[in-house]
Amino acid sequence: MTNGILVTGGAGFIGGNFVLHWLGEELGPVVNLDKLTYAGNLQTLVTVQHRPDYTFVQGDICDGELVSRLLAEHKPRAIVHFAAESHVDRSILGPEAFLKTNIDGTFTLLQAARAYMATLSEEEQKEFRFLHVSTDEVYGTLEPNDPAFAETTAYAPNSPYAASKAASDFLARAWVHTYKLPVLVTNCSNNYGPYQFPEKLIPLMITHALAGKPLPIYGDGMQVRDWLFVVDHCKAIAAVLAKGRIGETYNVGGCNQRSNREVVETLCSLLDELVPDSKYKPHAQLITSVKDRPGHDRRYAIDAYKIESEIGWTPEESFETGLRKTVEWYLTNKAWVDGVTSGSYQQWVTQNYSGRNDRTEVVK
Ligand code: NAD
Ligand code: DAU
Repeated sequence: MTNGILVTGGAGFIGGNFVLHWLGEELGPVVNLDKLTYAGNLQTLVTVQHRPDYTFVQGDICDGELVSRLLAEHKPRAIVHFAAESHVDRSILGPEAFLKTNIDGTFTLLQAARAYMATLSEEEQKEFRFLHVSTDEVYGTLEPNDPAFAETTAYAPNSPYAASKAASDFLARAWVHTYKLPVLVTNCSNNYGPYQFPEKLIPLMITHALAGKPLPIYGDGMQVRDWLFVVDHCKAIAAVLAKGRIGETYNVGGCNQRSNREVVETLCSLLDELVPDSKYKPHAQLITSVKDRPGHDRRYAIDAYKIESEIGWTPEESFETGLRKTVEWYLTNKAWVDGVTSGSYQQWVTQNYSGRNDRTEVVK
């Protein structure tokens, strides 16, 4: 076994940030297995693509033969599993791909990891880890005064995406208990930061505002999310990998509960400040209320006591500093944004937003 790790989905938003963080900290070699769906983008990884300690493999986590071959060839000390279909709206319009990648894909990886572990020495088996990256959406939705999600909160997934992630978490759990696979699970709240595909709230609002397009807020915009800067999430995953107890789940969150409307208004103020000569100023005039997402969860919040007390992880970035860094990143990385907002992205925007106009009203 080597000091290397196998990352799945490392060309996506969080996986890409994780690969950059891991290599930036010189934590060991990385093999990145990614199918390069619409959400995967090698432009995120141009700064590391020629490093001798980085290998990219385009492939599907559902391809058991490929996964087994990669494990046998590269002999990683850990698998860090990010690959997933991740967008709730897409799961509502087309759930099949979510079941395939998130459930079958995770099953395939768990089975391949079992077979690989059997080839390791006893010492190596003690060191090997499978870290399954999951979401707070598996816990369902909270009322305004409910306590935040803890690791003991019962699962109650509400969207096809959340149900598929919940299923994958249960597989991970079963593989620890039945086969003694050394699995760790992290359940994280909403991430934001550089390299996020502009189908998600924050980058969608930034890119739309810069183009003078409407900023579509679903329903009343009072849904609450617990926002975490992506680099803090990457650090949490590295810390859990190093110090987490086998079979345990760790909730990861930013302690930054904000309503969607508050987030979008803050973004608009930041853009007013950072793009003072914009012809769309004040950007808040672009805010538009549109028809809600079906089954929309009202509130997520994470109780991160366990990861803080056991592992010593806390977020370093405040929402204000993280959001400012994020807006500045989108302003200075226009080539990356242009690369992902071409043909098929425009089709997605039309597909997801054209039917929502019946509730359109200009808020400001
Ligand atoms: P993303 O959609 O940006 O990236 C997913 C990546 O997985 C892409 O590079 C894509 O090409 C790859 N992929 C998809 N299907 C694949 C397959 N079958 N085989 C190999 N690669 C495949 O997702 P993200 O936002 O970076 O999320 C990463 C993980 O973190 C997911 O498991 C997600 O559920 C979880 N998560 C995300 C958030 C968030 O706020 N974005 C929060 C908590 C947890
Ligand atoms: O909580 C963790 C989850 O966060 C991750 O598991 C998911 O992969 C990730 O996509 C994210 O899910 P959300 O559904 O919370 O994220 P999204 O960015 O799609 O939406 C955030 C909130 O903003 C949500 O309440 C819906 C709302 N929204 C979103 C979009 C895209 C709008 O009001 N308008 C929009 O156009």
